[in-house]
Amino acid sequence: MEVKILSARFDIEDNHTLEVAQKHGAYGTLDKLFSMEPVEVIEEVKKSGLRGRGGAGFPAGVKWGFLPKGLDKPTYLAVNSDESEPATFKDRYILVRDPHMMIEGIIICCWAIDCHDAYIYIRGEYTSQVKILQAAIDEAYEAGYLGEKVCGKDFRIDVTVHRGAGAYVCGEETALLESIEGKKGQPRSKPPFPAVEGLYGCPTIINNVQTIASLPFILENGADAYTAHGTDKSPGTHLFGISGHVEKPGMYELPLGLPMMDVINQVAGGVWKGRKLKGVIPGGSSTPVLTVDEAKTVSLDYESMAEHGTMFGSGGVVVLDETVDMVKLVENLIYFYHHESCGQCTPCREGLGWMLKIVRKLLAGEGSIEDIDLLRELCDNIEMKTVCVLSAACTMPVRSYLDKFRDEFEAYVRDDVSAHANQ
Ligand SMILES: Cc1cc2nc3c(=O)[nH]c(=O)nc-3n(C[C@H](O)[C@H](O)[C@H](O)COP(=O)(O)O)c2cc1C
Ligand code: SF4
Repeated sequence: MEVKILSARFDIEDNHTLEVAQKHGAYGTLDKLFSMEPVEVIEEVKKSGLRGRGGAGFPAGVKWGFLPKGLDKPTYLAVNSDESEPATFKDRYILVRDPHMMIEGIIICCWAIDCHDAYIYIRGEYTSQVKILQAAIDEAYEAGYLGEKVCGKDFRIDVTVHRGAGAYVCGEETALLESIEGKKGQPRSKPPFPAVEGLYGCPTIINNVQTIASLPFILENGADAYTAHGTDKSPGTHLFGISGHVEKPGMYELPLGLPMMDVINQVAGGVWKGRKLKGVIPGGSSTPVLTVDEAKTVSLDYESMAEHGTMFGSGGVVVLDETVDMVKLVENLIYFYHHESCGQCTPCREGLGWMLKIVRKLLAGEGSIEDIDLLRELCDNIEMKTVCVLSAACTMPVRSYLDKFRDEFEAYVRDDVSAHANQ
């Protein structure tokens, strides 16, 4: 089932070095790139249907097309390597195993959008990854792939690595920009969107690491080779981080559109220890949970996920076996988002804390049915009333657990421990 487009060089020893990566094709697209007009590159990316891999799935070429033309201002690129959504661990593979693929993608994007300054915003905790990435950038400068004259052409590209300081919210694109500007990482109100007014008030494209790393394949092989994989509306491949209660957790590159159960059973070795499946988190902690029946009919693509009332998200699939206590899981989830709230919106700052108190009251055996209803009501009242969607990233999944596993919450009211989870 695996298709190796992004991961083609992942298993080659020392592929993070320029010498080895280049021997295996890195930077091989640049002659073709510079023979193309920027607008042709944008058209090819549009034709490939490449969708942003940071979670929202917005088509990359369309986003680039939003950049205003004829402004007397520079255009910036920010590559989002914050990767802080729980259960998400795909970008780190690119950063460590094929950083030159991403740098080549940056060059392609910069040429397409006429950008000379790219920033890579990397998760603060990625200490070993940042060293490998910076070494790769240094080598790319030395080889003339970056700097004043990229490949001897009259075209400058400078790449700056900016380390985060441990705040999940800085993965949100406008908080990321604030953070690069040296300010407190708080999301901005939109509009204006970054493509119009982003970094230092200038037009800015923000793309995920995987989005950018997909560009060399598309340029080298053409959009049709990319759309040959995946579905019509969700073309290409994705790096899926499969974790939780499976026999073979790990990172797998798969075409979009595969049935969830085939991926769990045939790729990840099935639910571990012969236990029963209880549910699946399809794309990182912020995506609504799927029941077993839903998991049996959903496919790993944007459309199928939406039809099942959830989201594709970041490709972080978490398999939950029959022993999982959904109330404890929800407590853990709310704790995370409450802790990561930047605090500028009252519904997020206060509401998530209130939700945490309620679920802890339930866990302590001191809750009531009214508390469960209140928790549900809070989800509806907080969502979409805040500057960014961090609050919704908490309320959307919590609502799904309340609606699909309500019995378990009520069991804590009835003090029926055996019903909490089938342990
Ligand atoms: C709270 C929050 C955290 C986010 N964290 C990340 C992240 O770690 N990496 C990422 O690429 N996108 C993250 N995003 C999505 C970005 O805001 C943005 O949509 C994305 O980087 C755009 O890139 P793409 O179009 O290539 O997907 C986050 C969004 C929110 C609301
Ligand atoms: S929703 Fe939360 S994280 Fe987002 S801006 Fe408001 S307070 Fe900050």
